[in-house]
Amino acid sequence: MKNILVTGGAGFIGSHLVRLLVNKYPNYNIINMDVLTYAGNLENLKDIEDKENYKFVKCDICDFEKVKKVFEEYEIDNVIHLAAESHVDRSIKDPFSFAQTNVMGTLSLLQAAKNYWQDNFEGKLFYHVSTDEVYGSLGEEGFFLETTAYDPHSPYSASKASSDHFVRAFQDTYQFPTVISNCSNNYGSYQFPEKLIPLFINNICNNKPLPVYGKGENVRDWLFVNDHARAIDVIFHKGKLGETYNIGGFNEWKNIDLIKVMIKTADRLLGRAPGTSDKLITYVTDRAGHDLRYAIDSTKLKEELGWEPSLQFEEGIEKTIKWYLENQDWLHNVTSGAYQSYYKEMYK
Ligand code: NAD
Ligand code: DAU
Repeated sequence: MKNILVTGGAGFIGSHLVRLLVNKYPNYNIINMDVLTYAGNLENLKDIEDKENYKFVKCDICDFEKVKKVFEEYEIDNVIHLAAESHVDRSIKDPFSFAQTNVMGTLSLLQAAKNYWQDNFEGKLFYHVSTDEVYGSLGEEGFFLETTAYDPHSPYSASKASSDHFVRAFQDTYQFPTVISNCSNNYGSYQFPEKLIPLFINNICNNKPLPVYGKGENVRDWLFVNDHARAIDVIFHKGKLGETYNIGGFNEWKNIDLIKVMIKTADRLLGRAPGTSDKLITYVTDRAGHDLRYAIDSTKLKEELGWEPSLQFEEGIEKTIKWYLENQDWLHNVTSGAYQSYYKEMYK
């Protein structure tokens, strides 16, 4: 048996990872630590909540005393750390909460693990899940490599970069066993509709404007969330201590082109005439400090650990749109209440 602490397991990527681990490894106990912010939702894990090898613990990763108790109570062997404030636009409005959760929270977990493992690191691992945004922004050419220098621009990416530095500092200073992965943009089911893809699907369904930042020319590299969870599984089991792995699908899309694919697919699935929702496209003021282009080179992960994305984008986006259309209750639940005031404030 192994006792694995997954933080942020009630969020978008975390819930897919928890589901994968709980179902695939009955001999692992998966302890999901999440404070349930607006982005965390236990409904995301309804299908596995009664499994014997799954436990949920409501806990703020910044609460060092409580975190230490969780390590003791559940005899934690390994950590996969995903809990974070994750939305760039929110970080522009409230950078403090990003520094608090992403930097101080990560430090609290590192220190709690180090204390509990008492500097005996045999069989132990602290896996830190990070983002490609730490590398900054690319021009028309080139890719982010694991060796690309950090150059974060938003308060979100600065906080993630800082957390990565703390993880590496623990590795270098204490020979604390770590691994880091930096992934590109994820899409799929259970993503909170503040991010581009679920927000736009929801707005298409409700005939609401689609707020395209700037000219819609920014480029993102999209990966199906289940493929990210599969990559984390592979890196967790086969990754080398102290190493970093980039995760991405070699799947770049200019925002406006991606939006047109979403409109076309959603209109078809909703039984609307082709082009019906084109009129919803609304160009709005650009995001401050908007990174132009992200593109991940994940060759190292493929060549050293044998991981590749399993799904073509066209198939993934159709599956994703169908999921949101078929799960209107989920969308309704997460967009009632506080979501309405966020939306008004953000898109006024
Ligand atoms: P998310 O916002 O959907 O989920 C974050 C989860 O963390 C939520 O369940 C929330 O309740 C929890 N959380 C937040 N603050 C907490 C705290 N103080 N204590 C305990 N739990 C807390 O995020 P996501 O999109 O699933 O991203 C997960 C991780 O993956 C993040 O670290 C993010 O930086 C990284 N990442 C995300 C993407 C992406 O495209 N979404 C890409 C690369 C990396
Ligand atoms: O690259 C990985 C990162 O991807 C993760 O680390 C972050 O947690 C995740 O939020 C995501 O960041 P982005 O800022 O790239 O994702 P977002 O979905 O917010 O935006 C994608 C693109 O769409 C970006 O260029 C901004 C644009 N956009 C976004 C929103 C919400 C719009 O044009 N309009 C919008 O309303």
